[in-house]
Amino acid sequence: MKALALAFVVGLLVSAACASGPAPTSAPAELHAALEATPDTARGASLYSTCAACHGEDGGGVPDGSVPRIAGQPARVLIGQLVAFRAAERRDIRMQHFTDRRHLERAQELADVASHVALLEPRLPATVGDGTRLVAGGDLYRARCEHCHGVGGHADARTGLPALAGQHAPFTERQLAEALQGKRPELDAKHRRAFSRLGPEDARALADHLSRLPPRTAPGG
Ligand code: HEC
Ligand code: HEC
Repeated sequence: MKALALAFVVGLLVSAACASGPAPTSAPAELHAALEATPDTARGASLYSTCAACHGEDGGGVPDGSVPRIAGQPARVLIGQLVAFRAAERRDIRMQHFTDRRHLERAQELADVASHVALLEPRLPATVGDGTRLVAGGDLYRARCEHCHGVGGHADARTGLPALAGQHAPFTERQLAEALQGKRPELDAKHRRAFSRLGPEDARALADHLSRLPPRTAPGG
């Protein structure tokens, strides 16, 4: 009897973790389901019309960095970010709203919209910083970030590491500054050592360096 009950619970868990099962409830289950789903890119393009209002048709974001560039980020990374907002692990009132189930119903919709964004190419180059602390930014990047994020700051579609190259400098600066102030616990957790004893000037220098690294040319890679 006990074994039967256990088999039932395991069955429930397994079906919750698969795209075809009932709506997944936990963030890890939803992440798994979205990564396993076969994306419908055409459906993704139509879902993206909501997102385009802020991120632009081309996914290039807003040059002042108020809205990030998302074009060409691997689907795996995008799905991870969307799940994090939806689960309120990462907080932004706009993104938590537009990733709720009224906008993106199931894991399938997360996969669909991510597959579209991964294929976009920004029309304009990224906004760079003022260049005054560029040398310091490069040095800091090499000393503290490069061993994880790579020389070029590119995404790794296999491990889900996000691209940092070619993001609008004011956006990266704000993300880093917030993390340094403890306002981005989910980001800080992976960066405790890398971020230790950095200040706002360092955030600015790093963001400037990263904004000038050329994004990978093949989108979605
Ligand atoms: C009302 C404006 C708005 C809409 C609509 C919107 N976003 Fe966003 N998005 C933002 C802002 C602002 C941020 C930055 C949040 C932050 O500071 O962490 C963001 C962040 C993101 C990020 C994280 C990027 C990164 O590098 O950290 C992704 C991915 C993203 N949005 C995808 C989408 C998708 C897909 C949609 C449509 C389903 C969408 N957004 C709709 C404003 C919007
Ligand atoms: C120990 C490995 C490691 C080091 C060192 C590291 N990072 Fe990261 N970084 C990561 C991982 C992994 C992620 C993805 C986190 C996630 O998806 O939640 C990430 C994400 C980020 C993001 C968020 C990108 C996005 O679009 O959401 C920024 C910004 C960032 N790192 C900047 C830096 C900077 C700047 C440094 C150096 C000062 C640095 N990182 C050092 C592993 C590292």
